[in-house]
Amino acid sequence: MNLLVIGSGGREHAIIRKLKENKNVEKIYCLPGNGGIAEDAECFPIGATDIEKQIAFANEHSIDYVVVTPDDPLALGAVDAFNKAGYKCFGPEKKAAIIEASKAFSKDLMKKYNIPTAEYEVFSDEEKAHAYIDKMGAPIVIKADGLALGKGVIIAETVEEAKTAVSEMLNDGKFGDAGKTIVIEEFLTGPEVSILTFTDGKTLKPMISSMDHKRAHDNDEGLNTGGMGAIAPNPYYTKEIAEEAMNTIFVPTIRAMEAEGRTFKGCLYFSLMLTEKGPKVIEYNSRFGDPETQVVLPLMETDLLEAMMATTDGTLDKCDVRFSDKSSCCVVIASLGYPLSYQKGFEIKMSEAAHKATYVAGAAIKDGKLVNSGGRVLGVTAVADTLKEAITDSYKLVSEIDFDGSFYRKDIGQRALKALED
Ligand code: AMP
Ligand code: GLY
Repeated sequence: MNLLVIGSGGREHAIIRKLKENKNVEKIYCLPGNGGIAEDAECFPIGATDIEKQIAFANEHSIDYVVVTPDDPLALGAVDAFNKAGYKCFGPEKKAAIIEASKAFSKDLMKKYNIPTAEYEVFSDEEKAHAYIDKMGAPIVIKADGLALGKGVIIAETVEEAKTAVSEMLNDGKFGDAGKTIVIEEFLTGPEVSILTFTDGKTLKPMISSMDHKRAHDNDEGLNTGGMGAIAPNPYYTKEIAEEAMNTIFVPTIRAMEAEGRTFKGCLYFSLMLTEKGPKVIEYNSRFGDPETQVVLPLMETDLLEAMMATTDGTLDKCDVRFSDKSSCCVVIASLGYPLSYQKGFEIKMSEAAHKATYVAGAAIKDGKLVNSGGRVLGVTAVADTLKEAITDSYKLVSEIDFDGSFYRKDIGQRALKALED
C-alpha cells in the first residue's frame, strides 16, 4: 500500500514510524513533512492546508490511504475533499472536526448531553461578558472560540485581567476571527490527563493515558506551548477513573455527535481534568495530540494502520487495540525563545542512539545538515519497564544531542513520578 500523511510535526513522525511496521506498507509520502521525517517518508513541499494540491499529488502517486492529523486541514474539510476525490482517509469530516474547531460548539454539546465540563457561557458582546465576569469572580478562564494554535486560552487570576482578555479578543481582534466569539468558564483544579481514542463513530477504543507538560519552563512556569514533553501512562488515571470517563464522557460524546448528525471517525482526543467531583472535559481535539502521540504510539502493541482503517471502515469493534504495560517519556527540545521568537538554522548533532529515539518536529536539511527550523524541534522518547527508568533514559539521550540556541525542560515526568511515590 502507498500511504499519504499530511502534516509536519513530531506527531506525524511518530505516526509514520509506527505505520512503517505494517508489512503491507510499501511507500509513505508526507506533505510537507520535514528534514527528519524525510528519513522515513518521501516529503514534498505542499502545505498541510493546501488541499487541492494534496489531492493532485495523491492522483499522481497511486495513494491507497490518506492520514490527516493537523487540526487546520481537518477543520477546513480535508477529509471530505479526499473522500469526494475517491480516497479513503483517516480523520473526521469537517462537520465532526468542529468539536475542536469551535469551543462554543463543544461546550453547547456537553451541556445538551450532560457531559461533565466546567460551567460556562458563550459571548460576543463585551458588556455582557464583563457582567458575567463580575458575577462569577476570579480566577476565571477566557477561551477564544476558534483554533488559535493553543494560545487562545487565558487563565485570569483577577477580574481585571479577565476583562482585559475579553476586550482584547472581542474588540482588538487578538486571535482574529477565532476570538470574535468567546467562552468564559469556571476555573477547575486537579491533575490533567490526555486520552487519545480511536473511534469509528459507534465503537470507541481508548489508547493508553498520557500527561502533557504545556508550560515552557520547569515547575509549570512560563508561557503555554504546544507541549514540552509527555509521559505515559498517566498515574492519576486509575482503572476506576477510566471506567467513569468511559461511561460519563467518552461514550456519551460519540453518541451525542451521532445524534447531531456529526458522526466522528478518527482519533478523538479528550483533555480531562480530574476534579474532586470526577473527571471533566477541558477540551476535545479532533486529532492525535502532540507530544502525546510520541509517548503513546511507542507503547502500542497492535497495528496502527489496521486501527486507523477500522475507524474509516466502521469495523473498530473487530479490531484488536492493545498497549504494553511499560512506560514512556518524551522530552521536547525547543529553539530558545519558543513559544515567542527564536533563531533558526543551527546545526543539530546527535549520537546514533539519540537519532533512533528522536521524532523530528521542526528541523530542515540545509547544506546536507539537519538544522532547527521551528519552535519545537525534537521529541526524544524512551520506553522502559518503569516511568523512572524511561525518564532517566530519555534525559540520557537528550544529553547526546547538541545544538546551539536550544532549551528543554528538566522536569518532564517528575509530577507523575511523585504521584506514583505518594
Ligand atoms: P485548552 O487549550 O482548552 O486545552 O487549555 C489549555 C490549558 O489551560 C489546559 O491544559 C489547562 O491547563 C488550562 N485550562 C483550560 N480550561 C481550564 C479550566 N476551565 N480550568 C482550569 N484550567 C483550565
Ligand atoms: N499537546 C496538546 C495538543 O496536542 O493539543
